[in-house]
Amino acid sequence: MGISFFPEKKIFKLDTSASSYIFKIGAGGYVMGLYYGARLDEHDVDYLTVREGHDSTVPLSAAVDDWRFSPDTMQAEYPAYGSGDFRISAVKIKNGDGNSVTDCRYVSHRIYKGKEPIPGMPSTAGGEGEAETLELYCRDVTGAEITLVYSVYESHPVITRRAVIKNGGEAPIYVERAYSAAVDFTHPEFRLLHLWGCWGRERAVERRDLGHGITTVSSGRGASGHYHNPFAALLAPGCTEESGEAYGFNLVYSGNFSIDAEVDAFGLTRILVGINPEGFSWKLEPGEDFCTPEAVMVYSDRGEGGMSRALHRFYREHLLSEKWLKAPRPVVVNNWEATYFGFDTEKLVSIARSAAELGIDMLVVDDGWFGRRNDDTSSLGDWVANEEKLPGGLSLLAERVNALGLGLGLWFEPEMASRDSDLYRAHPEWCIRTEGRDMSIARHQYILDLSREDVRDYIVDSLSSVLSSANIEYVKWDFNRNLTEYSSSLLPSDRQGEVFHRYVLGLYEVIERLQKAFPDVLFEGCASGGGRYDPAMLHYFPQYWTSDDTDPLERIKIQYGTSIAYPACTMSCHVSASPNHQTGRRTPLRTRGDVAAAGVFGYELDPTALSDREREEVRRQIAEYKAHRRIVMEGDLYRLVPPEGNVAAWMYVTPDLEEALFTYVRMRTMIAPVSFVRLAGLDPDRTYTDGDGRRYLGSTLMRAGLNLTGSRRDGESVTVYLKAEPQ
Ligand code: DGJ
Repeated sequence: MGISFFPEKKIFKLDTSASSYIFKIGAGGYVMGLYYGARLDEHDVDYLTVREGHDSTVPLSAAVDDWRFSPDTMQAEYPAYGSGDFRISAVKIKNGDGNSVTDCRYVSHRIYKGKEPIPGMPSTAGGEGEAETLELYCRDVTGAEITLVYSVYESHPVITRRAVIKNGGEAPIYVERAYSAAVDFTHPEFRLLHLWGCWGRERAVERRDLGHGITTVSSGRGASGHYHNPFAALLAPGCTEESGEAYGFNLVYSGNFSIDAEVDAFGLTRILVGINPEGFSWKLEPGEDFCTPEAVMVYSDRGEGGMSRALHRFYREHLLSEKWLKAPRPVVVNNWEATYFGFDTEKLVSIARSAAELGIDMLVVDDGWFGRRNDDTSSLGDWVANEEKLPGGLSLLAERVNALGLGLGLWFEPEMASRDSDLYRAHPEWCIRTEGRDMSIARHQYILDLSREDVRDYIVDSLSSVLSSANIEYVKWDFNRNLTEYSSSLLPSDRQGEVFHRYVLGLYEVIERLQKAFPDVLFEGCASGGGRYDPAMLHYFPQYWTSDDTDPLERIKIQYGTSIAYPACTMSCHVSASPNHQTGRRTPLRTRGDVAAAGVFGYELDPTALSDREREEVRRQIAEYKAHRRIVMEGDLYRLVPPEGNVAAWMYVTPDLEEALFTYVRMRTMIAPVSFVRLAGLDPDRTYTDGDGRRYLGSTLMRAGLNLTGSRRDGESVTVYLKAEPQ
């Protein structure tokens, strides 16, 4: 188990619960990949490196050992720029002489139990009994030291990777590319699965053949963003939802990222995962080092579904906050779509009163409670309650809401300053801009320069003073624009390429300081809906607003795409009003509830506007959600029918296979439909009972399925709770 080193052939073998990852130190100290895939029982697969008949450049020192070797055709563990590997490189360092030729040759290594955190950045955790780590020390002739760090998990099919680059020379150097992970596969014909989107349509799933050349999914927006997610998977030929091989790659990072796949002329597929090199450069003085963020690699031979379930389990156990995993999350009502900016204390209290009668636990006051903010043109950064709307301030509001039995949550957009704000008037230099250039504005706001210590202190101090002024138990942390004209007034000219990454490090520091000061506050992430939904944010924010699009038929697709990488316990999902504010579509309240119950459940509507019948239905929804939420929060997800046709269906099964929750949605009306859905993940030998007392054998449900035949209109849904009978 774990990490083995075989000195006679200088081979490293990294074994997880289901995969093996093998590489060796070859001629001239080159670190050469050999294999990544299903577990192998032996390490000596050296024969895989032979590349007869391909003439290409060979560094002289390596050629002395083996003329058949060339960096151009080898499987490189960390491909370096400019030394004979002409494919896309993982590392490129401009040295003191001004050239960027880089090389990465093995020097030594260390293997230890457990896993160390990355200074200043979130990463997955692994105790001594859970993970083992290999640090591989490599060197470039200029003195740059490159450490490749691999951690391997015993009970997950997961390897994490990152790199540390240290200036061991005597002149300053500039890191121009530093990916977190690189893998070269010998298998050809992968398809690439990635998650793309935009506002209101986040994480749509795309699968496409990888042709020759380079395919990239990336962000250059200063945030991981809506448009591409820092996740991609390589699907082997024949991979389906429940069978075949899938390799998932996820970057634990919230800034500019790039995932690049290159298929070369010989059919080798290279994948790189890391910080986007575009606009990036990091100066290292002698003795200084640079740490990349962590990449997570997951292997499944049970298709995309197996890959997702493995990642979900891994993130629940090793990335997300343990505290919020165990504690039941509050069912919230958020007033954004109920009131937008038009509210006052009386309106909020009436919402809370009505919500209390329904079983809701928390009122979240969204945008508009501070400064002079009555629309989106002003006041971001002026984090002081608006006494005209909230006479007596937040403390009185909290008292009144608490007296009704609800907690109070508050919206912030801490990284921003409105152009019309006291903050911007006092400190225009705190915003990201480039002197002498037009300053782009979005939603009337600028973005604060979180690479500056004074800005970070301001955010921590101003939010802390609000959070200690009243009983605030929940924070919704929003982020509604991207970085432009990025440069920082405090950094010298040869460090301006550091701004994007310094921004992200500054963001992590601010969140950490606030969470340390307010450990009992639950933070929900948000970025114009579900932008910046990445593992690093999830490390801090155990739940994330999945999308501003709450139309259940659209949300199914967004939640389906999100579930490819991220577990249900991170997806904040609300029931909103019908017709829906984004799409204008009318849908049944039951369906809105069934779809929202596939994540962290809440409401995004005015409960005082509900009819008596709707209130009855909402009461039932909340009671059922609370009764069954453990299945969704801790269970395994089976995506039974993807939301691509007339029907969508999914189910969650508890790890002990005792309980399951199945949901079926008719996306489009069919006349006289005949519809059977086979379930998955149950114990074939146990008898399960549904809510009506009907008994089924697990194997029957998985082989013959449930019969969902019957006329249902557009958007109608069915949820079935299954409980195994005692053995
Ligand atoms: C964007 C978020 O996604 C919404 O939920 C809401 O909080 C608005 N911002 C408020 O401005």
